[in-house]
Amino acid sequence: MVYNWQRLGGRGQTRQRSGVRQEQLTATISNMKLRKIGFSRIERLANLFGLYDAYHAFVEKGMLRKKMTSDLYRFGNTSYLIKYFNGSMGHGAITKTGNLGFGFLHAGFINTLNPERVLCIGSRQGFIPAVCALACKYNRHGHVDFVDAGYDAGEPGNWGGTGFWKKNNPQEHFSVLGIGDHLTTYVMTSVDYARKYPNRKYTYIYVDGDHSYAGVKKDFNLFWPRLTDGGMMALHDINTKGAYNDSEFGVWKFWKELKGHHMLEFIDGVNALGVLQK
Ligand SMILES: C[S@@+](CC[C@H](N)C(=O)[O-])C[C@H]1O[C@@H](n2cnc3c(N)ncnc32)[C@H](O)[C@@H]1O
Repeated sequence: MVYNWQRLGGRGQTRQRSGVRQEQLTATISNMKLRKIGFSRIERLANLFGLYDAYHAFVEKGMLRKKMTSDLYRFGNTSYLIKYFNGSMGHGAITKTGNLGFGFLHAGFINTLNPERVLCIGSRQGFIPAVCALACKYNRHGHVDFVDAGYDAGEPGNWGGTGFWKKNNPQEHFSVLGIGDHLTTYVMTSVDYARKYPNRKYTYIYVDGDHSYAGVKKDFNLFWPRLTDGGMMALHDINTKGAYNDSEFGVWKFWKELKGHHMLEFIDGVNALGVLQK
């Protein structure tokens, strides 16, 4: 099953067409004009022969005209999102079904908070920043500042980073699904970013960078004061313990120390997300 996360021009609906099963989850009314709801005939045919991804790879490379893709594809096929932004680890997302896992939570919070600015710290290949940017796109409002130091696998404090943001052009990477205008990438540490942009305020903040106790505490202390009243901050990996290379996971310890906040915990097997509201 493919979950298609998009806004329709009317009510949300579930329908089944030959080849591709679709379930449209959002039911918010918007003025977005869709050319056609549903997959195109050629996409359904490609899917029937297991060539759906290959077909769109040709479109993304400019070898086939964009017009040959459906709005359904253009405005957010979640399987594609997970695959392209490498979101299948740590967020409960499932590429095969298009289940965005925690991505649905971030999107839901952003859809309802309708923030002017969103901050994302740390991502291997951009999954959560992309989900947040897509939520801003659907809100027709808001911008994501994505900050990652771009650490490579061998570097201390990489916490799973592969140097992706230094080896690739982030703007090009985020140009798919029409989210490029809703996201800016800053390849620097969160400390440097905070210093460089001291006046920015946020209504939604996602912290997934330095996973050590001292690191997450620093990010919290830097950015909590910059969260607007009623805004939300999400911390990834609040239950991961043990060593990572020469460092020790410490988000769990810091999370335990946080008191006096509105706190929510989402646990999905080994993956966990903590959310605070100011
Ligand atoms: C790879 S993510 C952890 C995996 C993540 N859950 C995901 O969805 O991809 C950690 C990222 O944080 C970045 N990072 C580590 N320390 C940082 C810091 N102090 N400031 C900004 N980014 C940092 C690393 O470069 C890395 O890309």
